[in-house]
Amino acid sequence: MPKTTATTGNQDARRKRNKKFLAFIVVGLIAQTVSTVLFVLLVMRFRNPKVRLGSVTVETLNLNSSSSSPSFTMKLTAQVTVKNTNFGNFKFGNSTATISYGGTEIGEGAIVKAHARFRSTKKVNVTVAASSSKLSTNYSHLRSDIEAGILQLSSHAKLSGKIHMFFILKKKKIAEMNCTMELNTKTKAIQNLACK
Ligand SMILES: *[C@@H]1O[C@H](CO)[C@@H](O)[C@H](O)[C@H]1NC(C)=O
Ligand SMILES: *[C@@H]1O[C@H](CO)[C@@H](O)[C@H](O)[C@H]1NC(C)=O
Ligand SMILES: *[C@@H]1O[C@H](CO)[C@@H](O)[C@H](O)[C@H]1NC(C)=O
Ligand SMILES: *[C@@H]1O[C@H](CO)[C@@H](O)[C@H](O)[C@H]1NC(C)=O
Ligand SMILES: *[C@@H]1O[C@H](CO)[C@@H](O)[C@H](O)[C@H]1NC(C)=O
Repeated sequence: MPKTTATTGNQDARRKRNKKFLAFIVVGLIAQTVSTVLFVLLVMRFRNPKVRLGSVTVETLNLNSSSSSPSFTMKLTAQVTVKNTNFGNFKFGNSTATISYGGTEIGEGAIVKAHARFRSTKKVNVTVAASSSKLSTNYSHLRSDIEAGILQLSSHAKLSGKIHMFFILKKKKIAEMNCTMELNTKTKAIQNLACK
């Protein structure tokens, strides 16, 4: 009898050990699954890069407030920021930033191809020459805007590129920007810059 008891005791202990071992494996598998899912969700996810105008400087501004044919020419330098929150580089091609006034495109500048490194913000300078000569001849607000000293401008840019992750994964992404701003002709400065 004692022999049997001892054997039963051993079996119990072994069963307990096996249970513990099984529990370890299950916990390990769950932990691995959770970390894989988190990795895929947080790291491998492709996010849209965000492009914005960081700041805009008025380099030159020539106004002609003649009552018969008011006009302006200007040169602006804009700092374009490309925020890349991906765990991979965003390479984008050549593109243009446009400036519009009164719903008409009045100038554009080149954004030269570059790449925003993983989880960082790339800043590029863009120079735009713009002129009222592109407006339709009878754009009626020009005179009153020049008199008021505020020109409402908007800017648009679209960057097309690819996110490269871990050397093997690639995905096309387009980053688009629409900004509005006011050019104060008295201070020759940009105010109320807002982007979305
Ligand atoms: C403003 O424009 C008018 C009409 O085009 C022109 O006669 C005049 O010379 C211009 N003035 C300046 C300061 O450029
Ligand atoms: C991008 O722009 C640069 C500078 O203007 C030019 O040298 C280059 O050829 C362009 N690349 C492409 C692919 O258009
Ligand atoms: C962009 O312009 C700023 C201010 O003029 C200058 O400090 C910066 O070096 C320029 N960046 C590039 C990449 O040219
Ligand atoms: C000038 O104004 C008239 C009437 O407001 C409009 O019909 C016409 O299309 C305008 N011309 C141009 C070139 O925009
Ligand atoms: C930017 O503006 C254009 C034209 O108004 C519009 O088609 C586009 O959807 C806008 N994009 C964003 C990101 O707001």
